[in-house]
Amino acid sequence: MSGIVGYAGSKDALPVVIGSLKRLEYRGYDSAGIAYQNGKGIEIFRTRGKIADLQDALPSPLPEARVGLGHTRWATHGIPSERNSHPHRSAGVAVVHNGIIANYRKLKSELMSEGITFSSDTDTEVIPHMISRNLGLGLPLKKAISETVSRLRGTFALVILSETHPHTLFALRRDRPLVLGIGTDEYFIASDVCAILPHAREFVFLEDGQICTLTVNGFEIEHLETQGPAPVKRQSVTVDWAPAAAEREGYDHFMLKEIHDQPRTVADTFDEWIKNPQSLLDESGLSPNMTLGLRRLQMVACGSSYHAALIGRFLIERFARVSVDVDIASEYRYRDPIVDNGTLLLSISQSGETADTLAAQRAAKKRKIKTLTLSNVVGSTSSLEADAVLYTRAGPEIGVASTKTFTAQLTVLTLFALALGIRRGTLSLKEANTVKSRLMEIPEAIRAALQKDAEIRELAATLLQSRGFLCLGRGINYPIALEGALKLKEISYVHAEAYPAGEMKHGPIALVENGLPIIVLAPRDDLFEKMALSMEEAKARGGRVVGITDTVEALPGSVHDAIAMPSTHHLLWPFVSVIPLQLLAYHIAVLRGCPVDQPRHLAKSITDE
Ligand code: G6P
Repeated sequence: MSGIVGYAGSKDALPVVIGSLKRLEYRGYDSAGIAYQNGKGIEIFRTRGKIADLQDALPSPLPEARVGLGHTRWATHGIPSERNSHPHRSAGVAVVHNGIIANYRKLKSELMSEGITFSSDTDTEVIPHMISRNLGLGLPLKKAISETVSRLRGTFALVILSETHPHTLFALRRDRPLVLGIGTDEYFIASDVCAILPHAREFVFLEDGQICTLTVNGFEIEHLETQGPAPVKRQSVTVDWAPAAAEREGYDHFMLKEIHDQPRTVADTFDEWIKNPQSLLDESGLSPNMTLGLRRLQMVACGSSYHAALIGRFLIERFARVSVDVDIASEYRYRDPIVDNGTLLLSISQSGETADTLAAQRAAKKRKIKTLTLSNVVGSTSSLEADAVLYTRAGPEIGVASTKTFTAQLTVLTLFALALGIRRGTLSLKEANTVKSRLMEIPEAIRAALQKDAEIRELAATLLQSRGFLCLGRGINYPIALEGALKLKEISYVHAEAYPAGEMKHGPIALVENGLPIIVLAPRDDLFEKMALSMEEAKARGGRVVGITDTVEALPGSVHDAIAMPSTHHLLWPFVSVIPLQLLAYHIAVLRGCPVDQPRHLAKSITDE
């Protein structure tokens, strides 16, 4: 979750590093630091707090350097403080690290018994000390690094500065992302492509076991262990994200901008496949044998991606008649699920870096079943490791709470379900065409839903005192209730429970008391009458019913607030109904003064278990 940025090039390094660190702020962090070489040695500045605090701590004007390194820390070992901030150093060596060194206690006591003093409580600090110790034993730098890394257990992305090589950065990884960006006369290394998007359009996603050396004159990638001259196979990808996609473009928050981006990001995502959804299967790399012989699909994901998977289950079961299990990734990885050669695992992760989702995908590989992943980030770890890959085309998502990538995931899942259904002969072309044409209307329907922004802001203002919410849905709208409740929790810091409406009588109805807001998703579908009854029951017990519907006139009188949404195909209504819930959480959060884009304790991608 920590962020890493390194620069080597013809420009002044520090402004570039600081600008790039700012683009990593969305990941969540509690302290920041930079390092550079000043001709005499390595200089480090670190601080607890935000990048702005780090800038205050830096000399003015900024020192000149051609090579620089930066880090945003999200505390794991040791409290957020200046002494625990990165870079960490030992004689002549500075290191930034993302990940966890599982055996650091053992290594630390070994180093301490040799008389080495530690100045932080982190796991990271063992690394510079071990490299320095190896240098002291006379090993050349790369060997000193590889010897150190061979003793580390756990996961890491590391970037290292050494006074023995004043114009060079060394980068390597194990199970943590690191991307090299290639610019004109400048080279970047980062934990996240967003950090360096405005500077480079060509990227190389480093692989485990490689070491990348960056200087002002170029880069080199070698095997860490052999360090032989043989070039390592590397993947170069052009990311077509416009740099402006990582800017707020006049919106108060990234989250609001990303909510409003959705008509475009849904259209961008279906654009290439809508004419012929089956092309999506071919492009993914799934073989016809796999799709025709598919008997069981196991979907794994976390957070909002998990809710998208729950919706995907309805679509895939309905159109492709395949049995679907959906698991929270951190549960799947510790289960012993039944699999056979007709089983496919589909992992869904916008970042493609979530530790539990990756672990679930790896567990499936160990069971020898094929894996397909759905990611928003080209070259993400999940996409590099899976047998087949599908991408959403939502552009970079900066707000911690997922919005546009959620609806982009729904878009791919809808097309995937249609494509599978057509290929397997379980869906008529007529029905497929109907759904396709309704999907093409979704961007317009979302635009209409977004028109309710001001109305929802007013509603939010009346709900500010509420400390708890209930969100109810049924069928394909129950996952939207879950997603609405998650948004309220993560952004607005209010307790929200989601329930399938039919389950209310089995416990949660006891929670209903005077004024409790109960958000009910009630489209005019086969379940509408049942939802209307749930609203009456909630009202009878004093609840304040907020109805989200496409048929306001049919809502019972018990509804206190009605939010009218456009109608669409009943299986596509989640695209529309999620919009007011995203906006409601957003406005409550803003009115309550919550830091919308960087909620407390949360990070954009959870790369540790
Ligand atoms: C974090 C984020 C959530 C996101 C979840 C899964 O918890 O705060 O917004 O839904 O991770 O992320 P992924 O990148 O795997 O979709």
